[in-house]
Amino acid sequence: MAYVLAHSVTYALIGLEPRRVEVEAHLQLGVPSFAIVGLADRACQEAKERVRSGVTSAELEWPKRRITVNLAPAELRKVGSGFDLPIALAILAASRQILPERVIEHAAFGELALDGRVRPVGGVLAVAEGAWAEGLDRLVCAAESTPEAQLAPIEIIPVHHLAEAVAYFRGERDPPPYASMNGVPPPLPVADLADVLGQQRARRALELAAAGGHNLLFAGPPGTGKTMLGRRLPGILPPLAREEAIEVTRIHSVAGVLHPDRPLVSAPPFRAPHHSASVAAIVGGGPGPRPGEASLAHCGVLLLDELPEFQRPALEALRQPLEDGTISIARAGGRALFPARFQLVGTMNLCPCGGRGDPAAECSCSAQRLAAFRDKLSRALVDRFDLVVTVPRPRAHELEVETGEPSAVILPRVVAARDRLCQSPPSRTSAADDLLSRAVERMPLSARGRARVARVAATAAALAKSEHVEADHVAEALAYRTPREIAA
Ligand SMILES: Nc1ncnc2c1ncn2[C@@H]1O[C@H](COP(=O)(O)OP(=O)(O)OP(=O)(O)O)[C@@H](O)[C@H]1O
Ligand SMILES: [Mg+2]
Repeated sequence: MAYVLAHSVTYALIGLEPRRVEVEAHLQLGVPSFAIVGLADRACQEAKERVRSGVTSAELEWPKRRITVNLAPAELRKVGSGFDLPIALAILAASRQILPERVIEHAAFGELALDGRVRPVGGVLAVAEGAWAEGLDRLVCAAESTPEAQLAPIEIIPVHHLAEAVAYFRGERDPPPYASMNGVPPPLPVADLADVLGQQRARRALELAAAGGHNLLFAGPPGTGKTMLGRRLPGILPPLAREEAIEVTRIHSVAGVLHPDRPLVSAPPFRAPHHSASVAAIVGGGPGPRPGEASLAHCGVLLLDELPEFQRPALEALRQPLEDGTISIARAGGRALFPARFQLVGTMNLCPCGGRGDPAAECSCSAQRLAAFRDKLSRALVDRFDLVVTVPRPRAHELEVETGEPSAVILPRVVAARDRLCQSPPSRTSAADDLLSRAVERMPLSARGRARVARVAATAAALAKSEHVEADHVAEALAYRTPREIAA
């Protein structure tokens, strides 16, 4: 026969969405060579060297043929090293070292080391889900990927080495069962609100934010505990529901930030990117594309510490996800969608020198500098913060107490309020409605502002275990609208 053909199945990820890729290996008589075609990126082209070394290291035969590997469909960009294992399997099937019929019953995903070991690759959960959705029963992947891949309802064939995969396909032996880690890892430590002394108003705003999922901005002079408070929001959020946890895990896996000992992200994620972060780092992008910090914070908290220091385009790029909870990145051949429903916490000083709002200091900023500083924060962005809190310098007696109220005491109140908001949301009394209407005229409030005030008022009512949203709750919510100090 002048040529032989075999193929294996794997998945390319467009954002988080798995797309089936058939890896066709074509062996022809002729001068031995090896080419990969089908819009493969650099990491994928480098598969040639890894696959060749891996196959020979596994003491398998490298076919002395003209080898062409085609990754179909060709118009889909193939990114990353997860194609190594399926490429090796397709070549081994084409050279009849393993049975082609068995190979196509499986999906395969994994990187090969030069010595033939199979390494884990980010995104394996999305790949396993893709295989399952298409009716494949089994996924061959790196043993280390097993705990994560097992979150999808598909049988995992964990392999440490290419030789193990071959032995499995030859029916010589089952792959060794994956030795799972020793029990459940202890929860990661989270900062406790007991450390924060005084700042009752800011603490109350944090509790409202936790209960209602509101965005929160702390503004005030330096050293008053704004960063400290922001970092403590995750500690008063309830753990993720199962579906949320899987969704977050999928995103973290694709981004390659999943902790190997914690295959399932069960606590609300907390992300605090540095203010020098690029637009792509914040909202996602690059080849692939990859999720950004906003998506990594999905179902959790995104803290933008020193908000006005961030590049304006990065802040503006957050406006859309803050509204609809998703980020869409256009790419040749389609668009990648990433979920990004996070709670935004910002902190800022009231002016570049930090003196404003501090009775003990004097602001030395020129009017121009102050204007440039405020310019960074568009009105549209500030409008998206439901709660804007000025954090003043604490009074001496406030700092004399030993500890603040611990997070463990606050959390049950947050959980109860969330349940109440979900099951029997409080309705507004007519007095509350009147106050809200007057505020729309007087403050004035935008339509979004009105809706946000109404939501915060409902959260305040739920925390107070009240069946109705009273005028007092609306008044509290209105007090958290943009104070004069930072109004642009
Ligand atoms: N309310 C507080 N209770 C206890 N410690 C506090 C409080 N406020 C500030 N501190 C102490 O001051 C340090 C600095 O606080 P933090 O970094 O939160 O200030 P900040 O308001 O973010 O300041 P900056 O505007 O300069 O970023 C904290 O690490 C903590 O030790
Ligand atoms: Mg700070």
